[in-house]
Amino acid sequence: MKILKRKQIVVALDFNSFKEANSIVNLLDPEIYRLKIGKQLFAGEGPKIIENFNKQGFDIFLDLKLHDIPNTVYKALKNLLSHKVWMTNIHLLGGDEMIQAAIEARESIKSEALLVGVSVLTSLNEKNIKNMGFNMQISELVKILCTSAKRNNIDGVVCSAKEVSEIKRNFGEDFITVTPGIRVQQKNDDQFRVATLEEATKNGSDYIVLGREITASENISKMIKKVESYII
Ligand code: C5P
Repeated sequence: MKILKRKQIVVALDFNSFKEANSIVNLLDPEIYRLKIGKQLFAGEGPKIIENFNKQGFDIFLDLKLHDIPNTVYKALKNLLSHKVWMTNIHLLGGDEMIQAAIEARESIKSEALLVGVSVLTSLNEKNIKNMGFNMQISELVKILCTSAKRNNIDGVVCSAKEVSEIKRNFGEDFITVTPGIRVQQKNDDQFRVATLEEATKNGSDYIVLGREITASENISKMIKKVESYII
């Protein structure tokens, strides 16, 4: 079944060091995959890690999920986007002013990085958000947060693959959806709102984040081959 486009898969490099991450990256073709650098690897290696993988020809999704006062987000993002980044993100719960500050930071240094907002983490379930004081379903909260993303003109959202079709219906096909919590085959871990590759593509997910599914697989090369069997 050929359901994936080239560069639609973003591999989450949740490692401590360049050395560990690179052992996986060596198995990946930059014409087929993009890479996601998150808090763990960024904290371990610093911004030079972006350069290291850029040099190997990869597009970088810098997943630092910024969430702070607008002034801090503005200044942090300006520094981060001075590196060659394909996509980065902020938390939509930071509010309109914070989202605006992120947009302004990108404009101020004429960066072309895509900017997406995290709606509700895919590790959260209905009970979690009730306990945080949100008296609504996750789907409603996601819709409210996507509305604020759209209102502030950011490029799209990070969301569960289960929410993609509803988001595309409400906010348009051009509104980018990035979906973590994707499993090649169904299983349970700390991600609650998970979906399979097939569900994610059927729902219209633009970019699919695969982390442990590849990196913690017993046979990484075999898993990569399996993923590539879905690519057009
Ligand atoms: O290993 P797994 O495939 O669950 O990795 C998912 C990756 O996506 C992790 O790097 C995590 O930080 C990230 N992520 C997420 N949920 C979001 C946004 C990003 O799980 N809403």
